[in-house]
Amino acid sequence: MASLAINPNVAALPPYNAGMNVAVARSISGRDDIARLASNENPDGCSPAVLAALASPTLEPWRYADPACTALRAALGRKLAVDPETIVVGNGSEEMIAAISRAALLPGASVVTVVPSFGLHEIEPLAQGAAVAKVAMTDDLGFDIAALEGAIAAGPNLVFLSSPWNPVGPALDAASLERLLTAIRPGTLFVLDEAYFEFADGSSPDGLEMLRGSGVAYIVLRTFSKAYGLAGLRVGYAVCSDAALARLVAAAKTPFNVNAAAQAAAIAALGDEAWMQASVARLREKRIRVAAALERLGFKVAPSQTNFLFFDCGTDSSAVAAALLKEGIIVKAWREKGYERYLRVTIGSSGDNDRLIRALEGMARR
Ligand SMILES: Cc1ncc(COP(=O)(O)O)c(C=O)c1O
Repeated sequence: MASLAINPNVAALPPYNAGMNVAVARSISGRDDIARLASNENPDGCSPAVLAALASPTLEPWRYADPACTALRAALGRKLAVDPETIVVGNGSEEMIAAISRAALLPGASVVTVVPSFGLHEIEPLAQGAAVAKVAMTDDLGFDIAALEGAIAAGPNLVFLSSPWNPVGPALDAASLERLLTAIRPGTLFVLDEAYFEFADGSSPDGLEMLRGSGVAYIVLRTFSKAYGLAGLRVGYAVCSDAALARLVAAAKTPFNVNAAAQAAAIAALGDEAWMQASVARLREKRIRVAAALERLGFKVAPSQTNFLFFDCGTDSSAVAAALLKEGIIVKAWREKGYERYLRVTIGSSGDNDRLIRALEGMARR
């Protein structure tokens, strides 16, 4: 290793906080029934139409899948009313974050994102040798629009912003997004990561709608991992402001990146939007109940338009996460500097949510 000419940008990357393996959680807790509340997966599973597509004899695992995801892009184009030539499908939207960074950033490039951040919005630019500036959230756990406006107006090469915001939860309202779009200079690529788009209510805009026709060079990211419940199959996509930008992002991905089962499953999921919408409605209700319970326990909880909650647990969150793990509950303790008191919990099944609340109540009594 010592004699290898390694990439120092990659060697210096911060670790991605990917959450705990369920087998490890079983051995630590001594329980089989692990409550997996760390990765923002869908506790309802996925549409039965997806399971039927995966069992279909038309699936041919022995063949390479379509590298261009033609049928899936056509279905997405119809759903979103965009030209399929502007869409690139990824092995999860995380692959698109990597491809965008690879396509758009040279060493020394500048990137703006937020803190607390979705790890890959920082890690992938750093891997390209870019410098990443992070705008902190406000004291009331929201976007600092004035600070973001200033950072964006300075003309970075790339902006990575998630709305609804992982890990905090709020979504940009139309007026705030408009202010940010107005601040963007030519030469900045604006990436709006809408992984939790389907969970947002009517108070936040459809980012794609607002970006279309804004004159800004943009990419909107969405995923099948959350509301559609396909996290294990890995399908996300990028909608680009024009086909030339999409070709650039596609050139930066691996050729056969989305496997045949994933493509078939995503098409089936799009054919059963009713399942997704019913699941989202149930999870929203549960989120409201869990947020109220956390507030009753005295925690400061960020407003959420997602399937998770972010709250200040008043002490080092890794100690709280470790105590919950002993009870078979996996949550995510935030590790970014300045945010080590925050915990992010996914909204799970009613039983798992109750377990979480009971465990936190028990700790509060001790
Ligand atoms: C904001 C955000 N973007 C992207 C992703 C990546 O999602 P996937 O690669 O599963 O599509 C996630 C996953 O948690 C996320 O929270």
